[in-house]
Amino acid sequence: MTLSIIDTGKFPRLEDMTKSELIQHLKETVKPEEGIIPAYIFSHPKVYELEMEKIFLKSWLFLAHKSEIPNKGDFVTRQMGEHSVIVTHGSDGDIHVLLNVCTHRGMKLCRMDHGNEKSFVCPYHGFNFKNTGDLAGVPFQKEVYGDTLDKSKMGLKEIRHDEYAGLIFATFNEEAVPLDEYLGDIKWYLDLAFNRAEMEVQGPPMKWVVNASWKLGSDNTISDSYHTLVSHGSIAKLGLVPSGDYSKYGYQIYTGNGHGLNLGMPNPHFAFPEELTEEYKERLSPEQWGVLEKLKNMIVCVSPHMMILISSMDFKGKQVSNTSFRLWQPKGPDKIEITQWQIVEKNATKEWKELSNQTNSLTFGASGIFEQDDSENWTDITQNSKGAYHLQENTFFNYTQGMHKKPVDDFVGPGIAYENKFNEANARAFFRNWLDQVTAE
Ligand code: FES
Ligand SMILES: [Fe+2]
Repeated sequence: MTLSIIDTGKFPRLEDMTKSELIQHLKETVKPEEGIIPAYIFSHPKVYELEMEKIFLKSWLFLAHKSEIPNKGDFVTRQMGEHSVIVTHGSDGDIHVLLNVCTHRGMKLCRMDHGNEKSFVCPYHGFNFKNTGDLAGVPFQKEVYGDTLDKSKMGLKEIRHDEYAGLIFATFNEEAVPLDEYLGDIKWYLDLAFNRAEMEVQGPPMKWVVNASWKLGSDNTISDSYHTLVSHGSIAKLGLVPSGDYSKYGYQIYTGNGHGLNLGMPNPHFAFPEELTEEYKERLSPEQWGVLEKLKNMIVCVSPHMMILISSMDFKGKQVSNTSFRLWQPKGPDKIEITQWQIVEKNATKEWKELSNQTNSLTFGASGIFEQDDSENWTDITQNSKGAYHLQENTFFNYTQGMHKKPVDDFVGPGIAYENKFNEANARAFFRNWLDQVTAE
């Protein structure tokens, strides 16, 4: 048998395809239920273009935690797909999500990551917009426009938004289902991270760039506990966790719409501040408290590109958990800007907050040991997926793990739950949801 790297076989060149041919090609080659995922979807510019249109212009997208903008005038700038938006706590007391595009001639209005402003002045000609989006002032208005400019029609474009558990989401799609329905059963698990107590972010998010497909982040989050055994084997060697297979025990759960999680339990120790037990019990249902009490870790994917993580480890003589969340923000077909927030119980002691922040930095911060391992995996896979379409397009990745397993029916939380986290069932479900989105009419 000869291995040909120049014969592209039955695969037509993706570059030559029209949009509808590409959609047909995706339907024929991406086979989530069979565990067959073609390499080209992880870096081809044409697939990325389709994702921007069919997913990032259509879905609900996470933007900010409410505690980032507690005061009137506070704002952060964020991305929705390739579009910049300003999330403000307006002078009217409301949250606004505003397209960061001046309505005069399209200049990017705000260039800061965060701050506090009553208004934003466009750097091009100086149109001045209130933090509610209204156009307030135009230089020399009377002289240059006479009475012809109606400022009330030239406010910044306000984007549809809503929130759950302090998480602000927005969508460009006026026809999208309500956020509550979009999140569905994943809310039960989001409560464990964001509603177990009053939570507050620890400063602005960290950001760093990795040359990888955004889908590898989501795929890893929703389904891949298996890699921890090898990729993160050093953490067991360092004695930070008891054994190499620590990540196997627990449940893999899919809740629909591309959302799912891996729940590590039981934990022989309580990994949260003891003094807040009453607050946890008050805010959570008895079933949720039962899970939190025994929780070792929880890795949640909110489709398309958000990850929420509760992680715990032995640190300075006790079990310490840290809670963080992040976006795999696409910056092109083969590049992401990882944006990571650290969050902690507002009523925890200063000492606990410091320990929790330190464990996050050690593991999942920009220089954390887990982070380094994962970045290397995803950079190589993204690069290799390009080789696949330049040289031999018929390259597929294998997602068949756990196809012989059946879900359990006695897990306390909602969703389709598999016992034991080593499984690719959630990745298959994620890619089914992805395929339905990118091929939708
Ligand atoms: S583009 Fe903003 S004032 Fe002209
Ligand atoms: Fe990892």
